[in-house]
Amino acid sequence: MALTVIQGADLSSRNTFGMRVSCRRLVEYRSEQELRDYLVDRPSEEPLLHIGGGSNLLFTKDFPGTVLHSCIKFIEPLEAAAGEGSGGCCTPPGENSGLLKKASPDISATPATEEVLLRVGAGVVWDDLCAWCAEKGLWGTENLSLIPGEVGAAAVQNIGAYGREVKDLIVRVECIDLKTGEKVVFDNGDCRYGYRDSAFKNELKGKYAVTAVVLKVTGEYSPELDYGHVREAVIREYGSDEKLTPMMVRKVIIDTRKGKLPEPSEVGSAGSFFRNPYITENQYRTVESVAEREGLGPVPHFPVEGGLVKVPAAWMIDKCGWKGVRRGNAGVWDTQPLVLVNATGKASPDEILGLENEIIASVKNRFGVTLVPEVEHI
Ligand code: EPU
Repeated sequence: MALTVIQGADLSSRNTFGMRVSCRRLVEYRSEQELRDYLVDRPSEEPLLHIGGGSNLLFTKDFPGTVLHSCIKFIEPLEAAAGEGSGGCCTPPGENSGLLKKASPDISATPATEEVLLRVGAGVVWDDLCAWCAEKGLWGTENLSLIPGEVGAAAVQNIGAYGREVKDLIVRVECIDLKTGEKVVFDNGDCRYGYRDSAFKNELKGKYAVTAVVLKVTGEYSPELDYGHVREAVIREYGSDEKLTPMMVRKVIIDTRKGKLPEPSEVGSAGSFFRNPYITENQYRTVESVAEREGLGPVPHFPVEGGLVKVPAAWMIDKCGWKGVRRGNAGVWDTQPLVLVNATGKASPDEILGLENEIIASVKNRFGVTLVPEVEHI
């Protein structure tokens, strides 16, 4: 197998927003070695962007350099070393530890309560991993079902939904240094995970390509049903919140997501466009007094770290009247206003950016809170 190199590649199908942009070249690699080979020869002055499924990106213009994409795909159960687990110690696996090994593990013999470490290639579609785990009866990924994107990007972005975040499953992240081609392995703690955040988005940004992620899942019965209406939905579906399987929970999560979020194959979006703001007590009191004065009803809010308060951005955007609003080809999704969409498939980056700015201004004006996009602008 050789690298795939496409000069002047069209990126429309490489970003879920469906922005019609291109790059100077698109390079796809299938192994660490192929990536290294590319890095040795690459024109060093050229900008480099590593993408996954392109599900959390807004291309604002053509990309004037090389876009890299991993096609490293495998799911490989590892022997759990004593003491290994999320945030635990780790020994980097050797170069030849089966990088391109086909997923053919037999874990059916795993005792029902046992933890399993899975080493997963960065190019595996995230939801394929969730489906694989659910089929094997392994708990951990089921609440994160149907999140678009690939495993490498999931580890960079710390994807989360319905009370679970991928950081709680990640043991270590294997990377290639984009300057030297060397392999570097980051423990969970080194990744400095936070809400939709990691060191890979901050001090390590642009320096590494994730090639594989080691995750901890378990055969031990451990459904997480406490977020929002998940338990209610489970009881509605199965008549009880007991004796569940990961597959049963996965089904409920998939149905919930499908009911609220646009179908990626039909309407372009990048999921939640904004982060949920963490605000101070003082800011929260301002939001509350606006809600009281204007009869907006109780403000949904949740205490978070550092004495801060999380107020759902969706609630504020909703109360500013944005649900279902269209601006040219761009729009706000009508059942989840946190999601901006390419309503016609023909939206330009400027139309999305215009809508983004209007929403930020209206929320700031009404509630005094500045929304920050979650979607990375390129
Ligand atoms: N809300 C409204 N109006 C609406 C929708 C929601 O007021 O039309 C309010 C409600 O109070 C609701 C609250 O917003 O309780 C939260 O809504 P939801 O549970 O749908 O979650 P979210 O906070 O808006 C986050 C993630 C989603 C994830 C869901 C479920 C972020 C930025 N988004 O959204 O992630 O699926 O929780 O866990 O944290 C993504 O990142 O792309 C994504 C879809």
